Parts: sequence; C-alpha cells; structure tokens
Amino acid sequence: MGTVVLGTGSCLPGRVLTNVELESIVDTSADWIKSRTGIESRHIGGKGEKTYQLAAQAAQKALEAAGVSAEELGLIVLGTISSHMLMPSSACFVQNELGAKNAFAYDLNAACSGFLYGLDLADKYIQADHSMKVLVIGAETLSSRLNWQDRNTCILFGDGAGAAVCGYSDSDRGLIGSNMRSDGSLGELLRMHAPESFNPDLIVEGNPGAYIQMEGREVFKHAVRAMEDAVFGLLEREKISKESLSLVIPHQANMRILNKLIARLDIPQSKVFINVSKYGNTSAASIPIALDEANSSGLIAKGDTVLFCSFGGGFTWGATLIKW
Ligand code: COA
Repeated sequence: MGTVVLGTGSCLPGRVLTNVELESIVDTSADWIKSRTGIESRHIGGKGEKTYQLAAQAAQKALEAAGVSAEELGLIVLGTISSHMLMPSSACFVQNELGAKNAFAYDLNAACSGFLYGLDLADKYIQADHSMKVLVIGAETLSSRLNWQDRNTCILFGDGAGAAVCGYSDSDRGLIGSNMRSDGSLGELLRMHAPESFNPDLIVEGNPGAYIQMEGREVFKHAVRAMEDAVFGLLEREKISKESLSLVIPHQANMRILNKLIARLDIPQSKVFINVSKYGNTSAASIPIALDEANSSGLIAKGDTVLFCSFGGGFTWGATLIKW
C-alpha cells in the first residue's frame, strides 16, 4: 500500500550537560530551566565531533534493524542545520562513511522539521519507484551553533541523530499522508546567519556569524498554533479521528510547548511520546530519536496509526500520519 519504515536507529554523543553545569556557564538556574522548559540535561558533542558522524552511526543502526545493506540504498536525505561544512553536504559524508555507493545524497534545511520534510520526500520517491530504499536522517551538533553567553537559547538545545530506512510495502500499511507548511515572512523570529563572507562586496551588514538567535515568546505562540493547525488539517483530510491514533510523536521543543499542544489537541498525554527532559531540543534529530526510542521499546505495533508533528525555523512545520 505504501511507504513503510523498515528500521530505525539513533545516536547521542557521550557527554551529558546538566542544568546544574549550565549555571557555571551562563546566568541561569537549574530550577528555572527545568520549570520553564522541562529540560534536565542534554547530550553535547565532543571536541571535533561532527554532525555526519552521529548521523552515520544512527544510520548504521537503522540499516541493521531494517535488514537492508548500504548498497541497497537509492537515496540518503539528511535534515540538518549544523553541518561542519557547507560543501560537501553531510549527506555525502554519510554516504561515503556507509559505503552506500548506489545512493545519491543531499542535505535538507528545514530546521526542526527536517526529518518530516525528509519522510515526505522519501514517500514521493518510493511511490514513483517501489524498489527504492531511502535513508532519512535528522542530525545536529547544535552545540557548535550556540552562543553560550545567550541564556535565551543555549539552555534549550542539544546534539544527536536519528534515522529511518524507508521502503515500499504492498500490505495495508504505509505512510497515509503529510501536511507540510512554511512561512518565510516569520523567518526573523528564529534564525541563524551564514558564516561571514570573504568577499567585501557581499558582506551582509549586521551578520553576527552562524549561531541561533530567537524571539522565544513569539516562537512559542507560533509553534503551538502551527502544529495544532497542521495536525487537525491532516486528520480532517485523511478522515482519521484523533481517538484512533495509537501514538503521537511530536517535535521535542520543550515541555511547555508540548503541554499546550497536548491541551489544544485534546489527546491523552499517555498517547504522546516525550523525552525532552533528557535531550533538550535536538532540532531535526528530535523526532527520529523519539521514534527510535518508541520503536525499540516496543511502544509501536504493526498496524498502529502514528502521528508526527514538527515546528522549526523558517518557519517550517507539518504533520505526518503513518499506519505502522
Ligand atoms: N535562565 C534564567 N532566567 C531566564 C532565562 C534563563 N535561561 N531566560 C530568560 N530568563 C528570565 C528573563 O530574563 C525574564 O526575567 P524578567 O521577568 O526579570 O524580565 C524571565 O526569565 C521570563 O523571561 P521570558 O523570556 O518571558 O521566559 P519564558 O517563560 O517565555 O521562557 C523560553 C523562555 C525561551 C523558554 C520560552 O519563550 C520558549 O519556550 N520559547 C520557545 C522556544 C523554542 O522552543 N524554540 C525552538 C522551537 S523549534
């Protein structure tokens, strides 16, 4: 019937940074972070640890879980906003690392929505060619893109990677639909400039370099409303009741956003997978890490209807439904 996830994997860097440790880095308190965001710790890449290295480890686990070899992959799509290089793409580094010599590979910049945008793409390729196997990854080392003196941002984010191998199934399972959206007019509210130009004629005035800046309260309001709209729009279009959902895996932005979203969707919290306290917001990696944790701990069974929703810089947002 459609595109199915054949296997999932994830990878977190070894170093854990707690809220208490953050107190000695920036003017904040562990209690403030926990009560305002629900985050208690996050994983942080070691010196020189690169996004593609986390991505490749997550991908390797997803391939093993799927029983698919790297040579069978036709496409690798990697959602990220924290590549260590702009060219080659991190996806090409992953392709080389895995030895996926038959795959073409590219990065996708949709911030925290990168994985769901990637799943949507994978579905289109697989629908067009049922033999295609697509590796979709979300991976970030955002700790390299944070201003550690800015308490509005550095307390929120973490590093990690998650991956899913997708293919075609002629059973009654598969990706039901997705509802992907963007609004570039609101891009200034959550942004990361490019590295500064070396061409004096092309230097952008006021470019502080490549790190995250954010108007937190505004982002909060838009995030809740956008995910709510995307979810209800998708459920209505696909004629699926929220009562029939088995599990909801939202982008793990922070606990207050998740609580508001759960209230607006009016879905029991027990049906919503939440791990933000351990990892913070890992941007494009947050949904595939959560998916891998839910999947490997047996929370998803064949035939379950699983809903995903995301929101991120751009703005980008969306929702996806899969009959697992
Ligand atoms: N530690 C301690 N105090 C802090 C702080 C920190 N890290 N950050 C802000 N504060 C202070 C502020 O200075 C302010 O103090 P004041 O009342 O004396 O002026 C107070 O806490 C409240 O600040 P405010 O910005 O209103 O906090 P908030 O309740 O809106 O929480 C966020 C801030 C960032 C947690 C919240 O706006 C949020 O979750 N935004 C969405 C962020 C997000 O998820 N972005 C990614 C989306 S993909």
